[in-house]
Amino acid sequence: HGYFTYDPGFVSTASCKSKITFIDGEKGVLLHRGYPIAQLATQTDYLQVCYLLLNGDLPNAEQYANFKKRVTYHTMVHEQINSLFKAFRRDSHPMAIMCGIAGALSAFYHDNLDIYDPEHRELTALRLIAKMPTLAAMAYKYSIGQPFMSPKNDLSYAGNFLHMMFATPCEEYVVNPVIEKALDRIFILHADHEQNASTSSVRLAGSSGANPYACIAAGIASLWGPAHGGANEACLRMLERIGTVDRIPEFIAKAKDKKDPFRLMGFGHRVYKNYDPRATVMRDTCHEVLKELNIKDHPILDVAVELERIARSDEYFIERKLYPNVDFYSGIILNAIGIPTNMFTVIFALARTIGWITHWIEMNEEADSRIGRPRQIYIGSPTRDVRPINERE
Ligand code: CMC
Repeated sequence: HGYFTYDPGFVSTASCKSKITFIDGEKGVLLHRGYPIAQLATQTDYLQVCYLLLNGDLPNAEQYANFKKRVTYHTMVHEQINSLFKAFRRDSHPMAIMCGIAGALSAFYHDNLDIYDPEHRELTALRLIAKMPTLAAMAYKYSIGQPFMSPKNDLSYAGNFLHMMFATPCEEYVVNPVIEKALDRIFILHADHEQNASTSSVRLAGSSGANPYACIAAGIASLWGPAHGGANEACLRMLERIGTVDRIPEFIAKAKDKKDPFRLMGFGHRVYKNYDPRATVMRDTCHEVLKELNIKDHPILDVAVELERIARSDEYFIERKLYPNVDFYSGIILNAIGIPTNMFTVIFALARTIGWITHWIEMNEEADSRIGRPRQIYIGSPTRDVRPINERE
């Protein structure tokens, strides 16, 4: 088998060169285009981060205003998309709807799309940034049987999403600035994370020259799993299942038991062997939001804080360098601001779309970009001959 390097899970394989995001997992560092994530999360907004990822640097005031105008121009979706939603069962998981609807966008933008033209690639990015909140909110409205709310382009990116989620034709939704800021920060913290499973899926799908909207659907599918973006939903469900602080030791024991498939959701990371820098900002934001919303008793937060304390002083977690990751506190914030649990991973997908499409663009900019084609170590049967059907065992 000497020809290929065997690397299950791609633990030590660099699949590409990239200028977008840098991670030092040992030190807990995350930089986008050189800027530390904590500074971006506290001193910029999500649309500035989108601009940064796409263009390589933060925008000045004029560039920002222009970018915002270009994005908001695309917030509406084609009327036929409304009919598409109606094909789904009302109780469909919203991630299932998002896989289908994002893929279906390729049917609207295919024949006139030239992926070799940089302007077309940029237009694809703008459309996706603009339309994902609209589609995500539509998935929610559909599930609760309320009419879709059109985007309001004079609101901020996060404010518009909240409006489409919570306003109704009979009642205006007044955006709470605390909630708006917290949601925007959650978007920033999820914007990109180099070659994770979903981004690698988008790149691999895109490496064949496939339609970019279909590639984004591949990313959404990959993100859905509980080992990846689905962990935020799974984490909140776990915290609710634990319920009270006195039950934590029972769940810690389950997580350590190698015969039990249970894992502490929101703990551990392939790359971070130190505190996930996104989790640090998320934890601070969580405390801020609950304080500003005047939520004094939050039993789930109490369970989370105590679970973190116990796990971090436990030999099993210390030895394996298992720290809280980005998904550990995000669910508590989303829950406090009224987002239903099955929408958590949709929020992640919405925010990660900028990362996916930036990687897709970067890949397409390379002159020597090749189709992704991993090899394998074959361990099946040696060569044998087909026998007539009535002579087979
Ligand atoms: N609870 C209990 N044990 C764990 C956990 C956990 N959450 N995570 C890892 N371990 C153990 C694992 O059993 C193994 O132990 P041993 O060496 O005795 O066999 C060791 O730690 C190494 O784990 P691994 O599975 O080899 O690590 P990995 O790099 O393949 O997996 C992970 C990384 C994130 C999938 C994993 O830590 C996990 O399943 N965590 C829970 C799910 C989660 O929170 N995912 C979100 C990740 S961050 C956001 C994102 O990517 O979307």
